[in-house]
Amino acid sequence: MRYGTLYGVGVGPGAPDLLTLRAVETLKRADVIALPRGSDYGASMAWQIIEPVIGKRSDQERLYLTFPMSKEPARLRQAWDVAFAKIGERLENGLSVAFATEGDPSLYSTFGYLLGEAPRRWPGIRVEVVPGVSSIAAVPAVLGAPLADGLERIAIIPANYGVEDLVAILNRFDTTILMKIGSEMPKVVEALERTGLLHKAVYVAKATMPEQKIATDLREVGAERGDCFAMVVVARRERSGVLAGEVSPNAVLAQQ
Ligand SMILES: C[S@@+](CC[C@H](N)C(=O)[O-])C[C@H]1O[C@@H](n2cnc3c(N)ncnc32)[C@H](O)[C@@H]1O
Repeated sequence: MRYGTLYGVGVGPGAPDLLTLRAVETLKRADVIALPRGSDYGASMAWQIIEPVIGKRSDQERLYLTFPMSKEPARLRQAWDVAFAKIGERLENGLSVAFATEGDPSLYSTFGYLLGEAPRRWPGIRVEVVPGVSSIAAVPAVLGAPLADGLERIAIIPANYGVEDLVAILNRFDTTILMKIGSEMPKVVEALERTGLLHKAVYVAKATMPEQKIATDLREVGAERGDCFAMVVVARRERSGVLAGEVSPNAVLAQQ
């Protein structure tokens, strides 16, 4: 069978002008744009990002797919069965499907599962990933602070899957990024207090979107359920990169 092409398109962190040219071209060309959302009645963040650039077209289908914010395998499997059936029907009819995903498709994205399953469900299918600007890149940009320099090491933690080892991680890495914070914020604050790093942590919600919020005192947001588009960056940053120490004259000569 000749299937339509399946695209995983990263649509960036929120600001429509952070869509890449390739993402825009792929989304405009696709027969179907698949749009994940958290509930049957909720909005799709991916659509909110792309709508100002792509616009609605009568000859292009918008296929909304609901993936509940749940860690329960049974609920997720049910949602995926529906999604696979709907996407599969289009691909089998030779239609190209662009699955729009917030940020980059390779990082904690619903598209990851589709990418893994596609060759088994639709043998021989062509799948193309269009990278996007990840929140990992957008947050340091709005903070005006680099994530890592020279030999510094970074840890990325999906906080909603547990932060029991956070103290050890904070002590071990130069920069720690906490994503998917959900209701774990009080535990995050507690670990930061225990390590004496609370003053080094910044909370950024909806980076690059009009509602963007930055909090430098995490206790302000500590009791709230974190925004579902929020990240905490903890940079110990006693500069350890190449310019931190004295640069030897030999090293300077070698670069010339
Ligand atoms: C399911 S993951 C998706 C990540 C996405 N694929 C990416 O590359 O950014 C969602 C998490 O990404 C982070 N995130 C996504 N967009 C963000 C934004 N605009 N500002 C801050 N954090 C964001 C939050 O930690 C959120 O809980």
